[in-house]
Amino acid sequence: MTEIAKNTQEWVEGVIKKADDKMNKVAKRLDGTMPFISIHGSYDDRSQNAVHAWTNGFIGGIFWMMYVLTDKKQYREMAERNELQLDGAFRAYEKLDHDVGFMWIPTSGIRYKLFGEYESKIRMLRAADILAGRFNLKGEFIRAWNQNGSFKPDGIYSIIDSMMNISLLYWASEEIGDPRYKFIAETHANTTIKEHIREDGSVIHIAAHDKETAELITTIAGQGYSRDSAWSRGQAWAIYGFIISYIHTKNEKYLNIAKITANYFILSIQDDFLPRCDFRSPEEPVYYDASAGAIAACGLLELAKYCDEFDGIKYKKVAIKMLHALEENFCDWTDAEDAILTHSSRKYADGPDLMKGHNVPLIWGDYFFLEAIAKLKDEAFMIW
Ligand code: GLY
Repeated sequence: MTEIAKNTQEWVEGVIKKADDKMNKVAKRLDGTMPFISIHGSYDDRSQNAVHAWTNGFIGGIFWMMYVLTDKKQYREMAERNELQLDGAFRAYEKLDHDVGFMWIPTSGIRYKLFGEYESKIRMLRAADILAGRFNLKGEFIRAWNQNGSFKPDGIYSIIDSMMNISLLYWASEEIGDPRYKFIAETHANTTIKEHIREDGSVIHIAAHDKETAELITTIAGQGYSRDSAWSRGQAWAIYGFIISYIHTKNEKYLNIAKITANYFILSIQDDFLPRCDFRSPEEPVYYDASAGAIAACGLLELAKYCDEFDGIKYKKVAIKMLHALEENFCDWTDAEDAILTHSSRKYADGPDLMKGHNVPLIWGDYFFLEAIAKLKDEAFMIW
């Protein structure tokens, strides 16, 4: 083992210990809740009034990560309770959308992978059917959200985030031997390359399409600073999403897109390795998105496995550097704060209202930070 690898393993063991010390106390408070944002140290709970929220599987995913990292039964039990609670979202069927992958992969997907639980497999297949049913035949993309006209101009939208959700479709084809799901996933990925990836490797969040013809009308800033900017979390979804597509298809085109989006992310990150919410936005005010760093680190660690030796070392080094920076600057290991990772931003245009928030803890930040740690502990760890 090289000195760098040894130091990284020691650091990873230290982070796992800190996470376990904290979660030993905090997890009991969060058990049975479905958090989104932490305000003044306490995560909120969307289980009563928004059981369909896209973020409601991340707390289960966090418990699963803690189980994988520590082998403690208590975390597994909490994760399984969250999965049962999430069944309420299937009952809120008309509110579900493209984000079903984010909900069921870190919950049922992990449980099925680890323990082969039949009910978990059925939940995953139900979620895959919902996602496949959103495929727009004319436009060849998976439709995001359920409301037309949520943005200007009115239309139906495809978004970069869906590149993560389509992992569910690859899984379904592999699981039941029906290629339809994979076909939809690949077709969506191909449209995403055309409509969301710029030549310089930066990423467009939203593409708006005509409701009837599904033709591309325009692109939209979405959660980024402007129409021409580069929302850092969208950039991270692209890195991780395209390497996932490569893993499931072995199509080199997806590997190349993962590389160019990764290269843009690396080029844009500042010396402190702490991602801003948008890579093409004014210097002030400083809106961080720690969650973008955690997601990108997961993507880079996967990407590193499929590159030549030199690129592989480069991507892995950046991922580790970014995780170190997040830990040093934005991890709260006390039990006074429910969240681990502070300083994420929901979207650039949010005002100072804490319920929306800039530089605040958001639940998926904790999840992807722990997933990255799980990957550093065991290089083969992959759930998407
Ligand atoms: N998938 C929603 C987001 O990244 O905020």
